[in-house]
Amino acid sequence: MSQKAILVTGGAGYIGSHTVIELLEAGREVVIYDNLYNASYEAVERIEKITGKKPIFYKADVLDKKALLEVFSRHSIGSVIHFAGLKAVGESTKIPLDYYYNNITGTIVLLQAMKEANIKNIVFSSSATVYGEPPVIPIPETSPTDAKSPYGRTKLFVEHIIRDLCTAEKDWNAALLRYFNPAGAHPTGQLGENPTGIPNNLMPYFAQVAIGKRDHLSIFGKDYPTRDGTCIRDYIHVVDLAKGHLAALKKLEDNPGCVEYNLGTGVGSTVLEMVHAFIKAVGRDLPYVITDRRAGDVPNLTADPTKANIELNWKAEKSLEEACASLWKWQQNCPEGLSKDAKVPDECI
Ligand code: NAD
Ligand code: WQD
Repeated sequence: MSQKAILVTGGAGYIGSHTVIELLEAGREVVIYDNLYNASYEAVERIEKITGKKPIFYKADVLDKKALLEVFSRHSIGSVIHFAGLKAVGESTKIPLDYYYNNITGTIVLLQAMKEANIKNIVFSSSATVYGEPPVIPIPETSPTDAKSPYGRTKLFVEHIIRDLCTAEKDWNAALLRYFNPAGAHPTGQLGENPTGIPNNLMPYFAQVAIGKRDHLSIFGKDYPTRDGTCIRDYIHVVDLAKGHLAALKKLEDNPGCVEYNLGTGVGSTVLEMVHAFIKAVGRDLPYVITDRRAGDVPNLTADPTKANIELNWKAEKSLEEACASLWKWQQNCPEGLSKDAKVPDECI
């Protein structure tokens, strides 16, 4: 199994593109499958520039079973890493049907196509958001799940669907990876997060303040029960997160059935600590103000990553300083993000 190719849905996106780099650098053959809804073909070109290897790319939708089966028939695929999905919590409350259709129906179609093609290993992008407001910090995988938004529920439902499938059919293996807060960019500064419109997340927003695109950062609340009153999150460097996927793929070779893993560092940082770390990376003061709490935020989401550390033999290694420095390098190199107009070669469609 190990030498077959890996299909990476959403492989042109933020976490997917970093994972593709790690896979190529580890000598794996990769097939990217992405409809480019929230990504650019330029990401694929940059992956090739960074690694010196050309990933196979298809511009196609996970909702399109015929296209999936066509790709499965052309390549010898051993496992799928499934990143493709919509990911904005706030947007999901406005257009829940789009989220349920794309994230849940899309995954069901993918699983059906995989089953028809006899591909039964999947790594799924879940999220710490499935924990809702956890009773214990750091959060173990056994913590109760209680997603609070349509987006979060798509992740939770897909976890249940995959778990049910693995229970019913013992030859399936799945790693459900619950990411904490991905941060940073590729150390080359050539690839990073490319938010369209106003960024929702802390670090991409603050990076746009630093580059002069936004006036100031608003810190959402300073009256939380934390050491400085601002919320605590577990920020994990995107390259560490990417490496977690290689470790999870390896785990699937042990035929573990369905397993959940927290991918986080185990160390929480407050918003103010992140603000100061990024200011240090930029090397000058940046404007921020304290405002009201944002609805839906919980005081602390910090992972207990022990299970992944032990069972996957994986550990987050990069520092917050590295995350901030790489984000700033990427933001300066590519202030407008990757080109949405990059032409997809005819053979990829
Ligand atoms: P992203 O938007 O950069 O990447 C998702 C990719 O999927 C995009 O390239 C998009 O074009 C593609 N895509 C979306 N719908 C598709 C479809 N129907 N068919 C084919 N391609 C499709 O997001 P990301 O930050 O890289 O996140 C990747 C995954 O990780 C998502 O599933 C997300 O929900 C999950 N996740 C992200 C975070 C985070 O903070 N970034 C945290 C936890 C979990
Ligand atoms: C981090 C902290 C904000 C913006 C989200 C999703 C989660 C996962 C990761 C996908 C919070 C504060 C933020 C700003 C601020 N994604 N903040 N000013 O909410 O922890 O997690 O992304 O699965 O599901 O919910 O990340 O970066 O939005 O916020 O003060 O302009 O920064 O209040 O405490 P969050 P975030």
